[in-house]
Amino acid sequence: MSGPGLLWAAVLSISLGSSVAQTVTQPQPEASVKEAGTVTLDCAYSTSESDYYLFWYKQPPSGEMVFIIRQNAYERQNATNDRYSVNFQKEAKAFSLRISDSQLEDAAMYFCVYSGAQ
Ligand SMILES: *[C@@H]1O[C@H](CO)[C@@H](O)[C@H](O)[C@H]1NC(C)=O
Repeated sequence: MSGPGLLWAAVLSISLGSSVAQTVTQPQPEASVKEAGTVTLDCAYSTSESDYYLFWYKQPPSGEMVFIIRQNAYERQNATNDRYSVNFQKEAKAFSLRISDSQLEDAAMYFCVYSGAQ
């Protein structure tokens, strides 16, 4: 099959084990990509913590939340998982998701999630 797939970036902020309010912002509400292309979904967050986790989840039209990738803020390597990789910039507090070789099944809502360390 061919044609563009739609990718939506949306945001969700949660905070576990922390009293500090965290925010995640959404630079772009919608991204689109042609099949087999590469797309990057940006996520910016704010925190005063140094130990935390960042996640990307996707929610396909069928509704369930699907885990994609997790980054520990202390890790000195960008997390990767199959066709997914992240660009984690701790200083800049940016956490983008890169999807390569995009497929129709990638059309979904994408959620950038912040979780404080336990
Ligand atoms: C992730 O990759 C980018 C681009 O190569 C790099 O600038 C950044 O430092 C990397 N982040 C980590 C946590 O390794």
